[in-house]
Amino acid sequence: MTTIRPRRLRTTAAMRSLVRETRVSPAQLVLPVFVRDGLSEPSAIESMPGVVQHTLDSLRREAVRAARAGLGGLMLFGVPLDSDKDAAGSCGEEPGSILNRGLAAVRAEVGDALVVMADTCLDEFTSHGHCGVLDAKGRVDNDATLASYVRLAVSQADAGAQVVGPSGMMDGQVLAIRDALDEEGHEEVAILAYAAKYASALYGPFRDAVDVEIADGGDRRAYQQDWRNVREALEEIREDLAEGADMVMVKPALPYLDVLSRARAEVDVPLAAYHVSGEYAMVHAAAERGWIDGDAVALEQISAIKRAGADMVLTYFARHLAEVLQ
Ligand code: PBG
Repeated sequence: MTTIRPRRLRTTAAMRSLVRETRVSPAQLVLPVFVRDGLSEPSAIESMPGVVQHTLDSLRREAVRAARAGLGGLMLFGVPLDSDKDAAGSCGEEPGSILNRGLAAVRAEVGDALVVMADTCLDEFTSHGHCGVLDAKGRVDNDATLASYVRLAVSQADAGAQVVGPSGMMDGQVLAIRDALDEEGHEEVAILAYAAKYASALYGPFRDAVDVEIADGGDRRAYQQDWRNVREALEEIREDLAEGADMVMVKPALPYLDVLSRARAEVDVPLAAYHVSGEYAMVHAAAERGWIDGDAVALEQISAIKRAGADMVLTYFARHLAEVLQ
C-alpha cells in the first residue's frame, strides 16, 4: 500500500532546497533610494530604520554597494529644496534637478551594472504635495499633468535613467510618456508602469522620506485605487499594457497578493511588486522590540510576494537581504 508522506521531501536542507519552488535572487530585487538637495551628509529617516536621504556622494557609494551585492536595480527618488517647490512641480524636470543629478551620478558610477530607474511623479516637487498639477477647484488636473510627466520623463531619460516609473496614476500617462520618449530618441528607455497603485495607508513613512505632506489634509483617493477593488486593478494593467508599458507593478505588495496572483495569470510581461515603506517599517518596529526575527520575516515576506507571481520586488530590504543571502 502506498503511504502518502510529503515529509519525505523535507528531511534535509539539500532535499528542501531541491524541491523549492520559489527563490529570492538579488538580481530580482530593486532598492528604492532617496537623494536630497542641499545635504552635507546623509540624513536618517526615523520611521525607516536603515534608510537614509542621500547626498550625491553617499548615493554613489550606495550604488556601488548595491551593484556589488548583485541587485537588479535602483529606483531613485529626489527631494528638492523646499524653496524650489512650486504648484506646478516644475523643478523636477530641470536638467540640474536633484533627481536628474542623482541619475547621472549613479550611471557614471555603475554604468550598466544594474538597472537605473527613476520615479516619474510630481509629488516630490509640488508645493501642495499632490502627484499632479491642480485645476481652479484644487483638483488634480489629469491632462495638464500629462504634459508635465512627459517633460519629467524625457529629462530623466536624458540624465541616464534606463527605466522610468510613472507612479501618479494619471489616465493616459504611459502612452504620453512612450510617445515623447520615442520622439526624443529614447526608444530604448523602458516604462515600468505603477499600474495598480492603491491609495494605501502604508505609504506613511515614505512621506517622511521625501518630506511630502499633502496640503489641507488632502489624500490621493481621486487618482489612486480603492483598496477594496481587484477587477479594477486588472483593467488598469490592461490599459497600461495597451498604452505601451514594458513592465507593470502592483503596490503595495503584501496585502495585495491576490491582485498579484490574478495579474500573473493574465499577463506575460515582467510583473513587479513594491513592498512599501509601511511594510518595511512594521517589520523593523516589531523586530526592534524583539517580537519577531526581522531578517527571517523579511525573507518570508519577499518570498511570498514572489510566490504570488511577482518577477521582481522593489524593497527597502533589497541590499540587506542580498548581503544576507550571499
Ligand atoms: C509617489 C510615490 C509614493 C510612493 C512611491 N511613489 C507615495 C504616494 O503615492 O503617496 C510610496 C512608496 C513607499 O511607501 O515606499 N511619487
